[in-house]
Amino acid sequence: MMKLGIVGWRGMVGQVLMERMKAENDFSHFETTFFSTSQKNLQNPHQLENSHPLLQDAYDLEILKKMDIILTCQGGDYTKSVHGELRKKGFKGYWIDAASTLRMENSSVIVLDPLNLDVIQKSLQTGLKDYIGGNCTVSLMMLALGGLFKNKKIDWITSMTYQAASGAGARHMSELLSQMKFVTDDVLKEGLDLSEKILIIEKRVKNLLSHASFPKNHFGHPLAFNLLPWIDSELENGQSREEWKAEVEANKILQSQKIIPIDGTCVRVAAMRCHSQGLTIKLNQNIPLDEIESMIREHNSWVKLVPNNKSDSLKYLTPEYTSGNLQIPIGRIRKMNIGPEFVNAFTVGDQLLWGAAEPLRRMLHILLAH
Ligand code: HSE
Repeated sequence: MMKLGIVGWRGMVGQVLMERMKAENDFSHFETTFFSTSQKNLQNPHQLENSHPLLQDAYDLEILKKMDIILTCQGGDYTKSVHGELRKKGFKGYWIDAASTLRMENSSVIVLDPLNLDVIQKSLQTGLKDYIGGNCTVSLMMLALGGLFKNKKIDWITSMTYQAASGAGARHMSELLSQMKFVTDDVLKEGLDLSEKILIIEKRVKNLLSHASFPKNHFGHPLAFNLLPWIDSELENGQSREEWKAEVEANKILQSQKIIPIDGTCVRVAAMRCHSQGLTIKLNQNIPLDEIESMIREHNSWVKLVPNNKSDSLKYLTPEYTSGNLQIPIGRIRKMNIGPEFVNAFTVGDQLLWGAAEPLRRMLHILLAH
């Protein structure tokens, strides 16, 4: 039985991963050791078959080295401090990681098997050992458009994202709720129907958002009743790092011979958990809409084509519908007035499932079958 070490199972992505692995009975295939950065030798809280009864030290390279596979959701700082040292010590096992640290290394593969199982399998044959989950918006966009990528119909894409608080982390989600409470507790003291004095209330909301006690330690700004058009750090070319990832990661996932340009604006919105994206797709030929839809629909079992009408869009094409769900709804698909090769689409995906945990647990099965 392969020895699996799990690090970072207590964080938000880790919890979602654990839930999925339990639901799919994944642990029955492995002898699992749970590692902790702070609680070594305490009782392992996961009573699973074949799991080590005690938590092990996540910085103990000798114990880590004994694993066949290490799967980490602990974050980039942990990867930076442990991965290189462990490899130097002679760790020959597989390293599966949710963090972005190793994503663009030549020695790593970005895993999104419904799109790149061939790339993953070729890399396994050539002996690559680092398999890294992609950026959430990139993975979700690629699953939605898998059929167009596979059939090589795309010239370029622009993506305008609407990314949930969950992408920033658990503390940010909690802060979003506190921000909402800070405002609503104040203004709703006046009653629930404020429509007659709504312009006065709107001014009060604006003042509350800049109030000295307004909770914004994590976001640094109000997200409630607002949006934030910058995610991650600044690059010299004017892109945010989140925007930069779209093209480089998508093309690395596909190992494209010809780079498909992808660019847009990434925006944080006050949704709790799912990332949405408005896409403009430039096709390399004029393809009838029903053929575009068939390609998208037939590509994988999770993509869900939503008819381009108001009621289906409002029901199925939302973070509310998609949260906690492995489906990837895509809709608003129509030819744009700009020209017959330009397609509009809107897609939503669960940032914690397909956007983070799911590609990692599926990589475990690919390794089992290897
Ligand atoms: N970087 C993403 C975000 C989440 O901030 O929404 C991680 O993929």
